[in-house]
Amino acid sequence: MKIGVPKEIKRQEYRVAVTPDGVGELRSHGHEVYVEQGAGSGCSIGDTLYEDCGAVILASHEEVFARADMIYKVKEPLPEECGLLRQGQILFSFLHLAADPGLTEVLLEKGVSAIAFETIQLEDGHLPLLVPMSEIAGRLSVQEGAKYLEKGFGGRGILLGGIPGLPRGNVVIIGGGTVGMNAATIAVGMGARVTIMDIDKARLQFLDNRFGPSADTLYATKGNIRRCIETADLVIGAVLIPGATAPTIIRRQDLKSMREGTVIVDVAVDQGGCVETSHPTYHDDPVFLVDGIAHYCVANMPGVVPITSTWGLANATLPYALKIAGLGMEGAMMDSSIARGINVHQGHITHPALALSLGLPCRKIP
Ligand SMILES: NC(=O)c1ccc[n+]([C@@H]2O[C@H](COP(=O)([O-])OP(=O)(O)OC[C@H]3O[C@@H](n4cnc5c(N)ncnc54)[C@H](O)[C@@H]3O)[C@@H](O)[C@H]2O)c1
Repeated sequence: MKIGVPKEIKRQEYRVAVTPDGVGELRSHGHEVYVEQGAGSGCSIGDTLYEDCGAVILASHEEVFARADMIYKVKEPLPEECGLLRQGQILFSFLHLAADPGLTEVLLEKGVSAIAFETIQLEDGHLPLLVPMSEIAGRLSVQEGAKYLEKGFGGRGILLGGIPGLPRGNVVIIGGGTVGMNAATIAVGMGARVTIMDIDKARLQFLDNRFGPSADTLYATKGNIRRCIETADLVIGAVLIPGATAPTIIRRQDLKSMREGTVIVDVAVDQGGCVETSHPTYHDDPVFLVDGIAHYCVANMPGVVPITSTWGLANATLPYALKIAGLGMEGAMMDSSIARGINVHQGHITHPALALSLGLPCRKIP
């Protein structure tokens, strides 16, 4: 198969989908790999490193899209890239379509087969391509939250770890999956008081065993959430229903009960956000205020640590890219994990949670 790896054009997105070793693997399975000039520059991978592993370097975005049977990239296509997609082409990347009806419509019209990293799912519910990015986003969420709690950035001016004789900062994490657990690991490590909330009893049990007395676990009922956010310094939104729009956990009226300068990091903003007042932001202007509460809502958080995130992502996606390229679209969809990753195919939505979120019909892949 001919595989195209474009340079990412989203603002402050420094990742690239494939490493030189990944190119070598794809080549050793007989595939042709076209990499856009400079695609790896954000994470210090020069064109010659790709060439040495067998890639053909192409000068333009347009050429990569025109030559490839499968576009293998990191983030969802932006409007200028959508025009380059064509019928029957495979698009393999993060997509987050439940939060983007406009892009969904374009992909349906174009007749592409869009396989979303974030909905490739094993039988046991595990999301192997989302996990490494959620690990990074979870860890970053506390790092960024601590920064925006500083007075100079408009925060409450509290040190998360406190000092002897003074209270620690209070971190409330809503959603105790991969993001939530990684956020808790860093927050506990910084010496904060940590509460992790979830609706899944088994997950709360797991987290309780893992963190012991260094973090509290709590059912994510409306009342518990309301009480917890009133005294929080940092709130991390980390809920997910795979493929669907994020549920709204914190409403605008809830902000009034929170203390001025509290920071919310809504990691779930890529799925629409779990805070009513969230909207996506970028790394160069990541925070906005609503009723005195700082909202950090960057939808591509790992993009800013590309040395970690490019390799983390590429290690996870490559086995699936190899499978899709080796079997072709019709063969790959026989793999149930990949089938769950397919969001749009031949002009139809094929993921039930996406269809439900957008109120559109679903033609499920058998
Ligand atoms: N902003 C970014 O750059 C970035 C990067 C990576 C991941 N994410 C996003 O972070 C979110 C979390 O990802 P994850 O990998 O941790 O997912 P996950 O599936 O591992 O965990 C989600 C958790 O949310 C819980 N949950 C679901 N509904 C809930 C509710 N109503 N109340 C409380 N808990 C609820 C689930 O039980 C689960 O434990 C996703 O939206 C993901 O796309 C964003």
